[in-house]
Amino acid sequence: MSNEAFDDRYELREFAPGTDEQGAPDAATDAWMHAVGLGFHEPHPNDEVAALMAEAFVADRETWLGVHVRRPLPGSVDETWPAGTFAWFPKSLSWGDGQAVETQAISAVTVRPTERRRGILRRMMTHALERGVAEGYAVASLTASEGTIYRRFGFGCAIRERAVRVRRARALPFLAPTTGTVTVVTPEWLADGNARAVFDRFDARTPGSMKRNTSTWPIVTGLRNGDGEPAKDVRAAVHRPDGATDADAVDGYVTWRVKEGSGRDQDTVLEVVDLVYATDEAYLSLWEFLLSIDLNDVVSYKRSRLDDPIVAALGDNRAYDVDHEEDHVWLRVLDVPAVLASRPYAVDGSIVLAVSDTMGFAAGTYRLDVVDGRGTVTRTAADDSGEADVRLDVADLGALLIGSVSPVTLAAAGLVRATDPAAPVLLRAMLTPARAPHGITYF
Ligand SMILES: CC(C)(COP(=O)(O)OP(=O)(O)OC[C@H]1O[C@@H](n2cnc3c(N)ncnc32)[C@H](O)[C@@H]1OP(=O)(O)O)[C@@H](O)C(=O)NCCC(=O)NCCS
Repeated sequence: MSNEAFDDRYELREFAPGTDEQGAPDAATDAWMHAVGLGFHEPHPNDEVAALMAEAFVADRETWLGVHVRRPLPGSVDETWPAGTFAWFPKSLSWGDGQAVETQAISAVTVRPTERRRGILRRMMTHALERGVAEGYAVASLTASEGTIYRRFGFGCAIRERAVRVRRARALPFLAPTTGTVTVVTPEWLADGNARAVFDRFDARTPGSMKRNTSTWPIVTGLRNGDGEPAKDVRAAVHRPDGATDADAVDGYVTWRVKEGSGRDQDTVLEVVDLVYATDEAYLSLWEFLLSIDLNDVVSYKRSRLDDPIVAALGDNRAYDVDHEEDHVWLRVLDVPAVLASRPYAVDGSIVLAVSDTMGFAAGTYRLDVVDGRGTVTRTAADDSGEADVRLDVADLGALLIGSVSPVTLAAAGLVRATDPAAPVLLRAMLTPARAPHGITYF
């Protein structure tokens, strides 16, 4: 569709979500929420949940886009609901050394089935990224519902995740003793500031961690289900180091529910809802605790990192099975010098990167100089035609950023090009973080 034809058919509206005097979503917010629910096949929330959701959108400082059909047919939802929806808001990405970069987090991307493949997504994405640049973001982020949508817009998958299950029968004892004390608490106690305090410590030390949306907290602490209704089946426990007694000493927590198996071959499964650890000791102890709970066969965890220490800790490593692995967070670099200067480096050195970007935001040739673990970046050419050690698309630069994806692997995949094979090896050494990246935040 040409721009004129698009603009003749649709109107793009940017607005901030809001509530009326009673706290209910205002008319534009309510219509937009209906459209998102349709896109993701989610039931429309009741009044109480809708008000909580709207309050959370406001708290998270979301900006919304709605693409409206200019001439809706009578009776169609197009009279009030947007045919395309899109949101962005600030969300920090941790480098794991106490430093973070604020990302332009993108979410709620839907296009009405009757209007798809007419360029609505492309228009919303272009508008949003231009606004992101104007607002000073160095990088945009998202979690995707499908793996093939976002590369064309310069996003690369920077961190993956695994859904794993550990069979209790063969798991314990661990090969090394655990330390500290695990106690069962109520979700209410956890939700009263204690979970967030642990998460903040986890976030500060974990490369690839991202801060959570306001609406995520009642779900991960076990107060509510994913649909916003009160949860009744979630349990919680916390870990403290040896000898510690006060609330501040809690350095890890887990929430879980048990799904009973029916039939002869069905396992009863303990499903981890959330597992957050500020220390490696807490992670290990909480796993040991989960595996010691009776009346279930298997512990399942959907947010495992690729290099999970539990595999090494288990009495029998074959108790651990990977059910599924997929992309987690995607990153889109908007400002190469700013994003590369914001992260730490493991090894000093200099390397020149030629970055191509069909949308233009990040195209250029850049020299990265790392001294004492900090990088400075000089643009040596306005496009990707300069002399360079490594040539890559902006999507692949996004993929490399956290240090979870190796440039040596991307070179083997044909995506990173280097005349000297030592260049991707040096870049890998520079980018490798101190501990395995772990993302446990969806948005
Ligand atoms: C995915 C979705 C947003 C696409 O919207 P759309 O308006 O039809 O997309 P556009 O017409 O702007 O197409 C933009 C480009 O993306 C491509 N594309 C769109 N949807 C795609 C998909 N599901 N898989 C792969 N490519 C896709 C188009 O081919 C087009 O490519 P091009 O610009 O290189 O020619 C829409 O199908 C949708 O709402 N799906 C359900 C909700 C969803 O999955 N949202 C994503 C949440 S992360």
